Amino acid sequence: MSERDLNNTVMPNPKLAVNYCGIAMKNPIIAASGTFGNGPEYKGYIDLSNEVGAISVKGLTPKGRHGNPGTRIAETPSGVLNCIGLENPGAEHFVGHVLPGLMKYDVPLLANVSAGSVAEFAWMAETLSVDGIAGIEVNVSCPNVECEGMAFGVDPKVVEEVTKAVRKVTNKPVIVKLSPNVTDIVEIAKAVEAGGGNGVSLINTLLGMAIDIHRRKPLLGNTYGGLSGPAVKPVALRMVHQVYKGVNIPIIGLGGIMTGTDAIEFMMAGASAVQVGTATMVNPNAISTIAKQMADYVEQYNLNSITDIVGAVHQ
Ligand SMILES: Cc1cc2nc3c(=O)[nH]c(=O)nc-3n(C[C@H](O)[C@H](O)[C@H](O)COP(=O)(O)O)c2cc1C
Repeated sequence: MSERDLNNTVMPNPKLAVNYCGIAMKNPIIAASGTFGNGPEYKGYIDLSNEVGAISVKGLTPKGRHGNPGTRIAETPSGVLNCIGLENPGAEHFVGHVLPGLMKYDVPLLANVSAGSVAEFAWMAETLSVDGIAGIEVNVSCPNVECEGMAFGVDPKVVEEVTKAVRKVTNKPVIVKLSPNVTDIVEIAKAVEAGGGNGVSLINTLLGMAIDIHRRKPLLGNTYGGLSGPAVKPVALRMVHQVYKGVNIPIIGLGGIMTGTDAIEFMMAGASAVQVGTATMVNPNAISTIAKQMADYVEQYNLNSITDIVGAVHQ
């Protein structure tokens, strides 16, 4: 797709404005971590200051990482499998060298953080609690080195511990991003609430696999990868609905949102804001298109604000 003439930027519609955990956003759509670079990679396609609600930056870790070797992305019917492996320059490099360049855009930034231990998560939150960062998004889908590499996000006790440790060292809103690879997502969301977390975002990717039948080898360099895109939407929507009924902290819903209708479904299920990831890999302007479709819905039903539909689904 060629770059867009940004003289045709769509100005923010006040009826789409939301305040999520004290973060004022011009619309409820956040660019999902890992699918939007840090934002400027898309600046020729979308007006970051007017058309994007917020950006969750590429997942950061204490030290820089090259990510996984081999094939990192595989298309699936209605989705994408990825095993990028958190390629990033490290938290301190980000704060010193990347963040200053992002601050010229008028859009809130969430620092998406991963770590190998509870203490490292706290260090990450402290290091990223700087001007220019609106909130900390804690990615608990990464492996816990103190627990034989089991993901933090599958154990409610560990999730509560991580949330408490992060909460203690930062004044920024703490949003914990939940893994769907669990039996009871509500139990995990309750652990975030008990640990003092301000919000939850869900879902991260579902663990999957693809095989190259000619080489008789896994298609992805890391054998398993995370599934995202339309294939995961019904699962994500169900989880958002369950979590909305189970906790009192506000939810960011994501997983397979491709259209305004999808985003509205997530808000009706209980999300106060949404994130869009894989859709941006198909259409770099997806967030703007989805915002326009949401504005059309607001007009169609004569709503005062998009916030009127949060949790509005009834049985
Ligand atoms: C290529 C790729 C990289 C991702 N990297 C991260 C990451 O660094 N941190 C994170 O929390 N989630 C990461 N995710 C997960 C997305 O942020 C999102 O939770 C997931 O893709 C579901 O949303 P979607 O279906 O709209 O893409 C990544 C997803 C993809 C496809």
